[in-house]
Amino acid sequence: MSRFHRTVLASLIMGLSSFASSLHANEVNTEVTRAADFTLLDQQGKAFNLHYHGQRPAVLLMAHMAGSDYARDSLNTLLKEIAPQDKGIALALINPESGMDRQALMEFASANAIEQSVLQDDAGMVSATLGLRYAGETLVINPQRWDIVYRGPAMDETGQRVHAGLAAALQSLMDGNPAALQLAQMTTAQTLPVHEAPVGVTYSNTVAPMLLEKCAGCHRPGGIAPWAMTNHAMVQGFSPMIRETVLTRRMPPWHADPAIGEFMHDMSLSVEQKQQLLSWIDAGAPRGAGDDPLIAVDAQLTEWSMGEPDYIVTLPEFDIPATGSLDYQFFEVPNTLDRDVWVKAVQIAPGDRQVVHHAIATFGSVPGGMGNSSASLFQPQLMTFVPGNDTYVYPEDTGVFVPAGTSFYTQMHYTTYGRETRDQTKIGLYFADEAPHHVLQHYAIINQDLNIPSGAAEHEEGAYFAFQRDAVIYSLFPHAHYRGRSSEFALRYPDGREEVVLSVPNYDFNWQRYFQFQQPIAVPAGTQVIHRTTYDNSTANLSNPDPTVTVRFGEQTWEEMLYGGISFRYAEARENDFEINVPDYFTSLGMGMFDKNMDGRVSLDEMPERARQQLALVFAMMDKDKTGGLEFAEFQQFMIQTNMVDQL
Ligand code: HEC
Repeated sequence: MSRFHRTVLASLIMGLSSFASSLHANEVNTEVTRAADFTLLDQQGKAFNLHYHGQRPAVLLMAHMAGSDYARDSLNTLLKEIAPQDKGIALALINPESGMDRQALMEFASANAIEQSVLQDDAGMVSATLGLRYAGETLVINPQRWDIVYRGPAMDETGQRVHAGLAAALQSLMDGNPAALQLAQMTTAQTLPVHEAPVGVTYSNTVAPMLLEKCAGCHRPGGIAPWAMTNHAMVQGFSPMIRETVLTRRMPPWHADPAIGEFMHDMSLSVEQKQQLLSWIDAGAPRGAGDDPLIAVDAQLTEWSMGEPDYIVTLPEFDIPATGSLDYQFFEVPNTLDRDVWVKAVQIAPGDRQVVHHAIATFGSVPGGMGNSSASLFQPQLMTFVPGNDTYVYPEDTGVFVPAGTSFYTQMHYTTYGRETRDQTKIGLYFADEAPHHVLQHYAIINQDLNIPSGAAEHEEGAYFAFQRDAVIYSLFPHAHYRGRSSEFALRYPDGREEVVLSVPNYDFNWQRYFQFQQPIAVPAGTQVIHRTTYDNSTANLSNPDPTVTVRFGEQTWEEMLYGGISFRYAEARENDFEINVPDYFTSLGMGMFDKNMDGRVSLDEMPERARQQLALVFAMMDKDKTGGLEFAEFQQFMIQTNMVDQL
């Protein structure tokens, strides 16, 4: 063949193929061949993180649109023909429609009996990152390397069978010899909504001010974050990483479900802000015109932002090594004040902000001193420090009464950063001139009866606190250790209505904090605050210290905790509100832990099995009103008579 002929042939082929692509608008993306990690929440508010599924044989992702019959049929065909759940294959649907918020997704999924996770990608960022274009478009992903081995329709042309290319790709993964990427064109072309890049966004007018507000509190010289946002070049250099941390919801470190409740100090990015930030990054993170607001990132914070404190608690010095992870440190500092005081505000000032990940300050007197123990956590609280939140001005007309002669306790979580350092944290207390009307109360829901089977990926435990008086709730604090996967607080009102008020779908041990409601919640006596935590004791949880053991309650991080802090006041003040009523406290604790069905009464079969026989007679005797269980007052008598108050 002459050179001329070859050229003609080539151009003919090229021409044909471009003709083909203009004919078929349903051509799939050919450029995205790897699946970037992401985290999205599904219709239940449950987190789906792609890389969590690294030990599965395959991950299937399907683009979803509520109105698409084709997507519905595709899902049904997949489920019928492949039965992914039986083969350990992860399957999730991704919905990029901006109108499909949590409520809409939930209603849609239940109306259509969809049990699979339908992920809310309302900014369309994950769909775009994965190169998804059409409803029903399906990806087969190889979790060994996160490359895409199939992209195309889930069904073949008949609409009856799974597409042969998909079946082959899946089979190759199941057989352990992954094939190269296979592309198949869509048979119908129902395109996904395209989210246009926000207009008018520049570094100077939008991006930098956003970073200043949401990130630079930690990402500044001397802050806890490993790099400082001090100018455009810095941010541009880190922009691929910023993209990744935002898509996986790791940064900013705010873990509350945005669909539930409104909180103070919320550092999360709105959907719009995420779109602005990511589309700016995708455009190359340009500097553009205008000045650089990040230049102003302040190296030196004034130590006491509310002025000189009335009293400063200075913790002992502590040496932090360059590397490794440290157990929580507990410090006790005697209170040298010679009078009782009402505290109205607190600031915790770390000596080295780069290492203090959290600090919980309490006071009281732990019998026998506290040693290295978290007993101090069950004392009245002053505040919890987390980076970016170092002051706590107590809610109006509330205060914390600190009697003379007690001790101050602090639990410190130190993290290392590659250089040895010494920390000496100070706690500044601000006193009220006059006693406030209300005592700011603190209570901890605890379940010491944990039993988390080895290997369990989603094991739920719960406990509750029932208010004996009308109250106003200010803030909530979920706490678990490395196996904590998700956590929530629900209120169950006396009329039986239940409402989730805080949900943390991707609980992270490294980021402990109180979530303070914008609007405090008033609750009537009899309301239960139910705290539920789901634990992941499987090998998929990469922070799991040991997936082979049954895990029980304990203070060590290789044990587990169900600890739910509540900060509140009583609606009507009483004179002795600042005293902890020990029998009431322990009765609440015991009921909340043992009353497994949460009906407000502890029955014999809810007590630990080993103790039932021994307790049968006492239970029968204590059950004065013969309801078949012990209500609060009866349970209190039971606790006192059996010395359980001392044992808890
Ligand atoms: C409350 C403090 C805090 C805030 C606010 C914060 N960061 Fe971070 N950031 C950290 C810490 C600490 C790390 C180190 C890694 C870790 O602990 O997860 C980090 C790490 C990072 C990293 C590097 C990730 C890695 O793998 O090392 C990026 C990128 C990042 N942050 C971006 C952001 C962006 C963007 C924002 C704002 C939208 C933000 N951060 C807000 C504390 C913070």
